[in-house]
Amino acid sequence: MAAEGNIKKLVELRAQARLGGGQKRIDAQHEKGKLTARERIELLLDEGSFEEMDMFVTHRQTDFGLDKEQYLGDGVVTGYGTVDGRLVYVFSQDFTVLGGSLSETNAKKICKVMDMAMKMGAPVIGLNDSGGARIQEGVLSLAGYAEIFQRNIEASGVIPQISAILGPCAGGAVYSPALTDFILMAENISYMFVTGPKVTKTVTGEDISVENLGGPIIHASKSGVAHFVCENEVETLKTIRRLISYMPQNFMENPPVIECTDPIDRVDDILNTIIPDNPNKPYNVLDIITTIVDNGEFEEVHKYYAKNIVVGFARFNGQAVGIVANQPNFLAGVLDIDASKKAARFVRFCDAFNIPLVTLVDVPGFLPGSSQEYGGIISNGAKLMYAYGEATVPKVTITLRKSYGGAHDVMSCKQLKGDLNYAWPSAEIAVMGAAGAIEILNYKELSAIKDEEEKAKYIAEKEAEYREKFANPYKAAKYGYIDDVIEPRYTRFRIIRALASLASKNETRPAKKHNNIPL
Ligand code: HXC
Repeated sequence: MAAEGNIKKLVELRAQARLGGGQKRIDAQHEKGKLTARERIELLLDEGSFEEMDMFVTHRQTDFGLDKEQYLGDGVVTGYGTVDGRLVYVFSQDFTVLGGSLSETNAKKICKVMDMAMKMGAPVIGLNDSGGARIQEGVLSLAGYAEIFQRNIEASGVIPQISAILGPCAGGAVYSPALTDFILMAENISYMFVTGPKVTKTVTGEDISVENLGGPIIHASKSGVAHFVCENEVETLKTIRRLISYMPQNFMENPPVIECTDPIDRVDDILNTIIPDNPNKPYNVLDIITTIVDNGEFEEVHKYYAKNIVVGFARFNGQAVGIVANQPNFLAGVLDIDASKKAARFVRFCDAFNIPLVTLVDVPGFLPGSSQEYGGIISNGAKLMYAYGEATVPKVTITLRKSYGGAHDVMSCKQLKGDLNYAWPSAEIAVMGAAGAIEILNYKELSAIKDEEEKAKYIAEKEAEYREKFANPYKAAKYGYIDDVIEPRYTRFRIIRALASLASKNETRPAKKHNNIPL
């Protein structure tokens, strides 16, 4: 009988914990169009796989009447489960308990799953929905945050860390997601800022809405803080599942290889004519990416930020890769500050987690102008160069069309230890484009010609001469800087073979405490 009573108590306590801050607050959460912390976990993980930890934890504060505000679990649901059968650790902030605010004990719960994730070498996923530091706990809460930040830093490059923002994320609280590998934001319900609209108004006089200051669209397109913006929470959680499928469990492992149902020797005739005859005419590099990868599946990262470069995950013969591609459809695919930062961060993630890099090059150079120079295009462009040069994963580069100047070097060229560098016959590998080169090389002659028609004829002749010499891949191929010139329609097969040959690649860089990438 006593045993029955014990079990009854356990069942009751569990039921109580599952209610978080109570039915009323759960209803309020639903009314805001938000799911609860537990509903989110159910959607994120494989059905029935969640094992909760620390369900009975409560805070130990008495100030400000907190002794009367005790809730089992204390505002965060933590534990482990699986995504496609693979172990992941998860914490999900429960807004129904004191606004999901971070207390000393609730921070300890988060730290516990992070420590377990590190010990087991498994990804950690954070679902954020919190009013920030629990105001009543003062410095204890700040210390709790710092404990989490330190773990984020130590886990960086060891296990994948993913953050979804599914509600408020303000003040210093933003820095835990910022330290992780990927941030996803759900439309309509999420925002992130260091300083909210009210304080912003008081301090600077700027009047701005929550949405415009830190909503998903802003962070996905302007600040680049968010890598993904999703229509709703369900989409956000599904995206995390897909994202995880491209990653290994930790830096010691390779990403999972899945069965490939798409013929590896598929010949894509359309690629032979995809590059316009006019070198100044744009095309959409996404059409090339989705043609060559397995089943046309491409998980684009940072889709709305620095659209002049495309980055994302795909598979070749079931093997996950990171793709970096200049996008001629936007700003002619030029490299600027934002594009360099975006691609550098992505390249570093792939390298940290043994995901080979496939780079598709069509770049007219770096964006000129004072705003770029003042903004530090020098050190920002160097980030991408650095990222490629330090990367030791297999690196396959295909030059589709332009590869000019410094940007040629940056985009995974042979001398930055690109492993296999191929070019399409349409490739133009040169210090700069024909028009610019003629201006510089023939400045004196051009100024001497007064007749406009004659000048145009002279330029056309010189351009033809220049293009004949440089606007092709054969000069680079002659020096071995390009390993082969390939027919576009065989690109998929050539990449798959290249990756297969590089599977056993073993390359190291000099030992050091850590590097000093130009931040
Ligand atoms: C304690 C909090 C809280 C907090 C919310 N609550 N935030 N309790 N500490 N930080 C409580 C509320 O009192 C309320 O309790 C419940 O959570 C729901 O909050 P509401 O305000 O009713 O919800 P909503 O209208 O949706 O507004 C959400 C909100 C607002 C915008 C997040 O609650 C808010 O502005 N909170 C304060 C945010 C903040 O300034 N935090 C500190 C940031 S600085 P009841 O009992 O009524 O349900 C920071 C520093 C971190 O975090 C430093 C790290 C280094």
